[in-house]
Amino acid sequence: MSKSVYIKSYGCQMNVYDSGRMRDVLAPLGYRPVEGPDAADLVILNTCHIREKAAEKLYSDLGRLNAMKTARAATGSQMTIAVGGCVGQAEGNEITARAPFVDLVFGPQTYHRLPEMLARHERGGGGVLDTEFPPEDKFDHLPQSAERSAITAFLTVQEGCDKFCTFCVVPYTRGAEASRPVTSIEREARALVNAGAREILLLGQNVNGYHTERDGRSFSFADLIAHLSQIDGLARIRYTTSHPRDMRDDLVAAHASNDKLMPYLHLPVQSGSDKILDAMNRRHTARDYISLIERVRAARPDIAIAGDFIVGFPGETEEDFEQTLALVHEVRYAAAFSFKYSRRLGTPAALLPRQVPEPVKDERLARLQNLLTEQQRAFNKSLIGQKVQVLFDKPGRHADQIGGRSPYLQAVHVENTHAIAKIGEIHTVEIIGAETMSLSGAFRLEAVAAE
Ligand code: SAH
Ligand code: SF4
Ligand code: F3S
Repeated sequence: MSKSVYIKSYGCQMNVYDSGRMRDVLAPLGYRPVEGPDAADLVILNTCHIREKAAEKLYSDLGRLNAMKTARAATGSQMTIAVGGCVGQAEGNEITARAPFVDLVFGPQTYHRLPEMLARHERGGGGVLDTEFPPEDKFDHLPQSAERSAITAFLTVQEGCDKFCTFCVVPYTRGAEASRPVTSIEREARALVNAGAREILLLGQNVNGYHTERDGRSFSFADLIAHLSQIDGLARIRYTTSHPRDMRDDLVAAHASNDKLMPYLHLPVQSGSDKILDAMNRRHTARDYISLIERVRAARPDIAIAGDFIVGFPGETEEDFEQTLALVHEVRYAAAFSFKYSRRLGTPAALLPRQVPEPVKDERLARLQNLLTEQQRAFNKSLIGQKVQVLFDKPGRHADQIGGRSPYLQAVHVENTHAIAKIGEIHTVEIIGAETMSLSGAFRLEAVAAE
C-alpha cells in the first residue's frame, strides 16, 4: 500500500543527509516522499539542538502539526508524528511529556530502526522512544539509496565528537567520534556518482579527524580523499566541518596536489582571544590558527577560507571581542557563520559566571557581521575578470539563466540563451559581476571553443 512521508530537516548538513537516508529506509515499506505535511501519513521532524532558537522552533512546529493531526482524526484518517535528530536525542523524555501526541522519538544513531519503531507503534498504538546509542553501526543497516542523486551529493564519513567544547551539545547528541570504513564509503560514493552526482561533500562534525585502518595501516582523511578521487565521473570533492586541531600536514598538502579537491576550507575558530579559546576548550591559540591558515595558503594560495564564530561567550570582554575582530582582519574570510553564544543545558559553559548580557551580544554580533560581510564582498569582487570553472546544478532565476557553483563555493548565475551549459556540466565562465552572496558570469566564445 502506498503511504506518504514528509521529512523536515533542521540544522546542519548531516541532518539533510540523514533525512535522505530515512527516505531510503522507508521506501521499501511503501512510503513515498511528499513536499509538505498536509496530506502526509507520516511526518518526521529531523531536529537540531545546537542553539536555543533551533530547539524552540521544534515546539512551535509541533503545535501546528498537532492541530493537523486532530483535524485529520475527525475525518477518520491518521497522521503519525515523529521527532528525530538531535533534539530527539537530547530531550526525548521532555518531548513525550510536553507533546504527548508525538508518536515516535529517536536520535541520529537509531533511525535505521524506523521500520521496527513504526511496527511497534502500529501494534501497540502508544508512543515509541528509541534514543540509545546502539552497539550496531546504522550504516550497516541502511539500504542503498534508490533516489536520483543531486549534482552535489552529501556523504557522511565521520560522526560524533570527542572534543567537548564547553559550549556545544554535539558530543551529547551525536555520541562519540566514529569513522566509517573505507569500503562502505567508497561503495556509497560510486553509487552516488552512478546516480548522477558530479560533486561529493564529505560530512562529519570533525570530518578532518577521520581516521581508520586499511590493509593493517592507518588511513587518514587525506588518504580517503585521494582514494575517492580515483572514481571516474566524480569531478569535485569538498568536506565540512573541520577542526583546527585535526588539520594534518597530508590534508594541507592535498590542497596543493589534488585537482578534484576544491579550494575551500571551512575551519571554525569561534574566537580570537586565547583566554576565551581556552575557556571554550578549543585547545589551540589564535596564533596557532593563523599559522595554520598561512600553511594552507602556502599550499593553495587562492583557497577560500570560511569560519564559524561565537560572540558573547561567558567572560568575553570588549578586549577579547576586539581580538576576534583582529583575527578576522588578519585571516580575510571568504564566508562565515557567526552566532550569539546560546546557553545550552548540560554543557559546562552554561554554568559559568559572567554570562554576557543579550544587548552586548547583539552589538558585538552586528560589528562582527559587518566586517565579515565586507570581507565576503571583497573576496567575491576579487574574482571579477577571472575565468573560473563552474559546476552547473540548477536552473537560474529566469528561463534563459543557469546556476552553479565556483570552485570557491560561490553561487554563479550565467545567461545561457544559447544553451551552452546543461545541469551537471562544468564550463569555464568569466566573472562579470559580484554581490555579497553571489557572482554573475558569462560564457566567452574563446573559452567555449577551448572546452
Ligand atoms: N564541529 C564543528 C561545529 C559544529 S556546530 C566545529 O567544531 O567546528 C556549528 C557551529 O555552531 C559551531 O562552529 C559554533 O560556531 C556554533 N555553536 C555551537 N554551539 C553553540 C552555542 N552554544 N551557542 C552559539 N553557537 C554555537
Ligand atoms: Fe561541538 Fe566542539 Fe565538537 Fe565542534 S569540535 S562539534 S564545536 S564539541
Ligand atoms: Fe544541530 Fe545536531 Fe547538526 S545539534 S548542527 S543537527 S549535529
